[in-house]
Amino acid sequence: MQIVDQFLRKINYLRVSVTDRCDLRCVYCMKEKMNFLPKNEILSLEEIERLCDNFIELGVEKIRLTGGEPLVRKDVINLIKNLNYKKSNTKLKEITLTTNGSLLKKFARELKNNGINRINVSLDTIIEEKYKEITRFGNLNNVLDGIEEAKKNDIKVKINTVVFKNFNEEHISDLVSWANKNLLDITFIEVMPMSDTDIPRHMQFVSLDSTYKKLDMIYHFEKTNYRTGGPSNYYTSRNLDIKIGFITPLSNNFCASCNRIRISSTGKLYMCLGQNDFVDFREILRTDRGDNYIKEKIRFALSIKPRRHDFIINSGIKPYLNRHMNETGG
Ligand code: 5AD
Ligand code: SF4
Repeated sequence: MQIVDQFLRKINYLRVSVTDRCDLRCVYCMKEKMNFLPKNEILSLEEIERLCDNFIELGVEKIRLTGGEPLVRKDVINLIKNLNYKKSNTKLKEITLTTNGSLLKKFARELKNNGINRINVSLDTIIEEKYKEITRFGNLNNVLDGIEEAKKNDIKVKINTVVFKNFNEEHISDLVSWANKNLLDITFIEVMPMSDTDIPRHMQFVSLDSTYKKLDMIYHFEKTNYRTGGPSNYYTSRNLDIKIGFITPLSNNFCASCNRIRISSTGKLYMCLGQNDFVDFREILRTDRGDNYIKEKIRFALSIKPRRHDFIINSGIKPYLNRHMNETGG
């Protein structure tokens, strides 16, 4: 069984937000004062697993757990453990995680023991004060220790860096040198106009064109065909031992090859990160309509998956997305 959407894109990659909560408050992701959802609105781990089962039966091969911060969800390891078992008797091939790394030191070994071989760690700067500034109350050393522990446990770490206007643009080459020294692939991401944060989006956004050009002058990039299942384009260089990725939802649309869908922590299936349309599975799960009904709804959702996002960032335009990134994860 392999589900496709209305444009015949093969959908084999499910991203699941296991919590809207986070121990950080990155300025481009959240407001300083966020209201998190009451527990009963969040799917239980059993509900998440049941949804995953149905998606796997319909052809999902890769699941990424995100948040908020997935490692702040109590017992998330149990979910990972149960999903990991499915790799031996279903089509599921890989489980990955997007994390801010602050709790990674504590969890790295357990993650590895439960089949996590690859994670993305979000890190926008390696300057301690700047890290505090952008995350509002993170501690850079926790993340660096976490990355070290992950590497010790043979988990492949990729760094995700949001390039934020007038914040980390100037230091990107230092970040690349650091990543290269530590043998960590790194991907740069443009700020996307999710729901409002405390700073207007047009003051946050900068196209990755200039970042690419600056780095290309130093490293003389060569394009690769390397893919990790996501939308990143990767480059290598004779002067680097790592790959550098660019995710450019605004300056260079990649939707034609989209293979992804997302479940929010409350059970809404978002067919596109950049659109508001969703199909709600929570009530279906809680009234127990049966797995055939769930699959029917998944098929319906894919029949209306949007062709592409219409991200616009402009001083006169309010973000049209009415949710923050912590609802669906990256
Ligand atoms: N635009 C781009 N990336 C974002 N992230 C959070 N909010 C945004 C946004 N508005 C990133 C985080 C993390 C991933 C989950 O999404 O930095 O890397
Ligand atoms: Fe696909 Fe939408 Fe993501 Fe674009 S934003 S890559 S259309 S899911």
